[in-house]
Amino acid sequence: MNVPAPPASSPGLSLVYIVDDDADMRQTVADILALAGIPVEGFGSGAAALSRCAAGQPGLAVVDQRLPDTTGIALSAKLKSADPDLGVALLTGYASADNAIAAVGLVDEYLTKPVPPDELVHSVKAGLERTRLRRENRRLVARLRELNASLEQDVADSTQEVERLHQQAVADQMARERLQAQAERERLENRLHQAERLESLGRLAGGVAHDFNNLLAVILNCASFVAEATAGDQSVQADVQQLRTAAERAARLTRQLLIFGRQDSAGAETLDLGAILADVQSLLARSIGEDIELIIRPADALPLVRANRGQVEQVLVNLAVNARDAMPGGGTLTISLDTHVLDEDYQRLHPGSHPGRYVALAVSDTGEGMSPEVVARVFEPFFTTKPLGKGTGLGLATVHGIVTEAGGTLAIESEPGSGTTVRAYFPTADTPASPAAITTTTPATSSSLRGQGETIMIVEDEPAVLQTTARMLTRNDYTVLPAATGAQALSMASGHQLDLLVTDLVMPKISGPDLARRIQEIQPGLPVLFTSGYSHDALKPGDTLAEKTPVLQKPFTEQALLENARAALAQRGGRPATRPQNSPH
Ligand SMILES: Nc1ncnc2c1ncn2[C@@H]1O[C@H](COP(=O)(O)OP(=O)(O)OP(=O)(O)O)[C@@H](O)[C@H]1O
Ligand SMILES: [Mg+2]
Repeated sequence: MNVPAPPASSPGLSLVYIVDDDADMRQTVADILALAGIPVEGFGSGAAALSRCAAGQPGLAVVDQRLPDTTGIALSAKLKSADPDLGVALLTGYASADNAIAAVGLVDEYLTKPVPPDELVHSVKAGLERTRLRRENRRLVARLRELNASLEQDVADSTQEVERLHQQAVADQMARERLQAQAERERLENRLHQAERLESLGRLAGGVAHDFNNLLAVILNCASFVAEATAGDQSVQADVQQLRTAAERAARLTRQLLIFGRQDSAGAETLDLGAILADVQSLLARSIGEDIELIIRPADALPLVRANRGQVEQVLVNLAVNARDAMPGGGTLTISLDTHVLDEDYQRLHPGSHPGRYVALAVSDTGEGMSPEVVARVFEPFFTTKPLGKGTGLGLATVHGIVTEAGGTLAIESEPGSGTTVRAYFPTADTPASPAAITTTTPATSSSLRGQGETIMIVEDEPAVLQTTARMLTRNDYTVLPAATGAQALSMASGHQLDLLVTDLVMPKISGPDLARRIQEIQPGLPVLFTSGYSHDALKPGDTLAEKTPVLQKPFTEQALLENARAALAQRGGRPATRPQNSPH
């Protein structure tokens, strides 16, 4: 039944199954195909062909329509369900339209017996080629699917990896932000603590300094009385001079403490920082010495600021001296000015600062720099890293008081070994210039300041100060009415015609300005000279002082008291000043 293997089957062509119950027919077809080099296997029934189909992997089945166990079309359907790509050629002796229709989609070739050999070979080869192409196609599709699947897997893997990395990055970012927020909070808390500490230190220092001032006034004035009384005694004079020098030094320290505590009553003026810098340039150059190069960087069209001129100069000197001390081996000191706008962010980070336009005075050195621990404490009074006798630790405390009093703020950038920059921000002035609050008359000789018996009421709650002030005026030919309280002053005022009222600015119960107002009701046009160890801030609400109101800062010297008294007397009732006579004591 089996057809012999073809003598020379071409390696490229697959096996062809011939399914026909007619052995002759099978043989004939096999012979024809063998001649064309096509290997053939013959089967007498559909079942036989079907059972071998899976193992044999034929390239084409040539199927007779009439088989003992099935029809060619039915077999074709079964073969296709076993191997969907297998080509089937239906071989039939009867060409019928029914068969042809039934075969559509199931058979690839439709051959009618007798088939001419050429046509048979041609159809078989075409069928084999179609099978090959279908199989190749399926293989390619499968490969493509495989590739696609692995590609999808790769994409899925990479997407997952990207997602993981993204989540990791988000988590890292969140952790970083949390740490930053925490660091920021700690920094802010530190700044706030620092600001609060400075504030309370300021109150303490200011209070102590105020009381000290009264004591120093007594010491200094009594020293001058002793000096006068012992004019001929050289040894006593030397001691008194020492006493005075020490008290004057103490007064300078006290003044710095008052400035730090913002209880110094220096008046604000409208200032051009560029002009001040130009004026003090040579003084600064002298105080830093020759080993340090001084670079000044002024700015064009700088807005004016409101501050006290003397105090701004002090800021410059203190910062320059600190820079000098930080550069013992020489270096560069750069002082620059420019305009800055501090915004709400800056305010948030720097408690106590206010948003607005500022002129920044920056003092930079190339010196040894500071550790963060030192930076945190530099504004504290008496904080110094300098050896005993070299620094008092009041330089930056004073700078802090001055800049804060002017409504400004300070910033320090410093690192050990990398130098220091201190920036003082002064708020720009919107108002035009006005003269200083403190009246200082042109220096006059003591004798030209003597009185002519004018009646001066002195009101002072500190008995020692009251006593020395009274004494200074009495011995200069003034008639003095001393009062220890506002109430006492009021009752005395009703019985006396006064030429001048000298009163302490800040007193319990009745304040200086209040007292002045009430006495002026009885004696209109009475000139007033205020004395004070406090700033205008220390006044009671409602007690405002006109900007030009003279305030004599304690401790004052006899000369300053007489000068101010004379100037105030000149204002009496708007009358021209009575020129004091030069009369010997
Ligand atoms: N430019 C700077 N470079 C390095 N350290 C500085 C600088 N300025 C200030 N310091 C440090 O800050 C401390 C306090 O300075 P501050 O000016 O208040 O006091 P002082 O210079 O020690 O003494 P004083 O100024 O009263 O003579 C200094 O002792 C120093 O340690
Ligand atoms: Mg200093």
